[in-house]
Amino acid sequence: MDVMTSINLLQMLLILCLLVHLIPVNPVKEDGLNSKSRKRIMPDPLTEPPAIDPIYEARVYCNVPSITERSMEGHAPHYFKLVSVHVLIRHGDRYPLYAIPKTKRPEIDCTLVSIRKPSHPQLEAFVRHMSQGSEAQMDGTLSSLPRYPSHSLCEMGELTQTGVVQHLHNGQLLREIYIKKHKLLSSDWTAKHLYLETTGKSRTLQSGLALLYTFLPDFDWKKINIKHQWSTIFCSGSCDCPMRNHYLEEEQRRQYSLRVKNSHLERTYVDMAKIVGIPTRQLRASNPIDSMLCHFCHNVSFPCTKNGCIDIEHFKVIKTHQLEDERERQEKKLYFWYALLAIHPLLNQTVNRMQRIAEGKKEELFVLYSAHDVTLSPVLSALGITEARFPRFAARLVFELWQDGKKPREHFIRILYNGFDVTFQTLFCREHNMHSSKPMCPLEKFVHFVKRGMFSIFNSTNYYDACRRRPF
Ligand SMILES: *[C@@H]1O[C@H](CO)[C@@H](O)[C@H](O)[C@H]1NC(C)=O
Ligand SMILES: *[C@@H]1O[C@H](CO)[C@@H](O)[C@H](O)[C@H]1NC(C)=O
Ligand SMILES: *[C@@H]1O[C@H](CO)[C@@H](O)[C@H](O)[C@H]1NC(C)=O
Repeated sequence: MDVMTSINLLQMLLILCLLVHLIPVNPVKEDGLNSKSRKRIMPDPLTEPPAIDPIYEARVYCNVPSITERSMEGHAPHYFKLVSVHVLIRHGDRYPLYAIPKTKRPEIDCTLVSIRKPSHPQLEAFVRHMSQGSEAQMDGTLSSLPRYPSHSLCEMGELTQTGVVQHLHNGQLLREIYIKKHKLLSSDWTAKHLYLETTGKSRTLQSGLALLYTFLPDFDWKKINIKHQWSTIFCSGSCDCPMRNHYLEEEQRRQYSLRVKNSHLERTYVDMAKIVGIPTRQLRASNPIDSMLCHFCHNVSFPCTKNGCIDIEHFKVIKTHQLEDERERQEKKLYFWYALLAIHPLLNQTVNRMQRIAEGKKEELFVLYSAHDVTLSPVLSALGITEARFPRFAARLVFELWQDGKKPREHFIRILYNGFDVTFQTLFCREHNMHSSKPMCPLEKFVHFVKRGMFSIFNSTNYYDACRRRPF
C-alpha cells in the first residue's frame, strides 16, 4: 500500500512537471552514445527483424555516426523548384538526465577532440568558429549558454562529442542537397532568410549550431538570430489548452497500468534495486533506462556494486517494455489526441510560413527548430506517421516546399523522417496517388489539415474550441 501511494504521488508530480513543461515529457526518456565505432544500423524494411529486438532497436536509437547514410531529401521532378525547407531536429547524443543512486556515473568525456571517435573532418573548425560567436543575436538566456560542450566529465544532460558529430553530419548532408544542388540560399543570404528557434537547453542550442555550421560553413555570426522557445512543444503564445493536459493525464494512466501489469518488468526492477541497495520505488524513480542507454550507446559496462552487476538482461527487459509501451500507445488514441492539440501551434506556424513563401515572399527560406524527443514524437503522431520509430538522437524531420515550374501557382510538399520519404503515410496525403506524375502532396492538403482537419477529429472547427470540448 505504501509503495502504491508513493508511486501515485510520483506520477502526480510527473504529471505536474509535464503540464508546465519543466521537463521534457516522455514515456521514453532515453539517452546514450557510443564512443567506439559500433556499426550504425539504419532502419531498413528489408532486413528489419519482425519481432521486437531490444538490442537492435537500442542501436538504432543510439544513431552512432557512420559515413554512409541513405537519404531521399531533395528528390523531385526536374521542373520543380525548391522554395523552402523546414527542419525539426532532436538534439544529438547526450549524457543522462538522471543518475542511478549509489552507482558510479558512466565516465564520458564531453570535451571535443578530433582524434577521438566518432569524429568529423570539421569538428576542430566548428570549435574555433563557436568560440568567436559573441556577435550572434540570441534571445535572452540563450546568449549565456555555452556554444559547444566542454566538460571532461559530462554534466547531466550535456551534449557529447557523438551528439555534435551527429549534427555536423546532418548539416553536411542538408548542405549537399539544399544548398549545392537546389540553391535554396544564394551566396548573399542574410538574417531574414533564416528562421532559427531552440529550447533553452545547451544541448538543443549546440545541436542547432552544429547543424548550421556544416550547412552554412563559416557563417557570419552577425546574420545569425536565434529565438528562444520556452515550451518543449513549441506552443509559444497558444499554450493554454485544458484538453491537451487531460489527454496527457489519461495517457500517463494508460502507461502506468501497462507497467504494473508487466510482472517480468516489476521483477527486474526489484532485482536491480537489490543490486544497487535501494528501495525498488527509488530505483524506478531514478529512470534507470536513461542511464543504461548511455552505457549501452557508449559501450561502457553497466554499473556494479558489491551485490552484483546490472546487466544486459535487465536492459533488454526494460527496453522491450518501452517498445511494447510505444506499440500500445499507438493503438490507443490518447496520445494521438494529446499530440494533435499539443503540436497544432507549431504546425500552424509552419503552414503560415509556407503560405507566405507560396505567395512570393522571399523570407524565412530555411527554418530550423532545435528540439527534443517530446517535440518530434507528438509531431509524428499528429501527422499520422505511425510507422516511424521513436525519435533517436539527432533525428530530423524535414518539410520541403516545392513550386511547380510549369504551373508556378501550384505548390507541393514532401515530408522526410531521417531521410525516408513519409509524405504518403500522413493522414492528409494517404489517399493521394503517390505514383502520379507529381510524387508529392499538394500544399493545400497540409494547410487544410492544420487549419481544419486536426479539429474535426474532436468534432470541432478550431483550436480554442477543441482545447475545451469534453468528449461526448
Ligand atoms: C566494447 O568494449 C569491450 C571491452 O569493454 C571491447 O572488447 C569491445 O570490442 C567494444 N566494442 C566495440 C564495438 O567497440
Ligand atoms: C494560427 O495561425 C493564424 C494565422 O494564420 C493565427 O491567427 C492563429 O492565432 C494561429 N493559431 C494558433 C493556435 O497558433
Ligand atoms: C464526434 O462525434 C461523433 C458522432 O457525433 C462521435 O461518435 C465521436 O466520438 C466524437 N468524437 C469525439 C472526439 O468526441
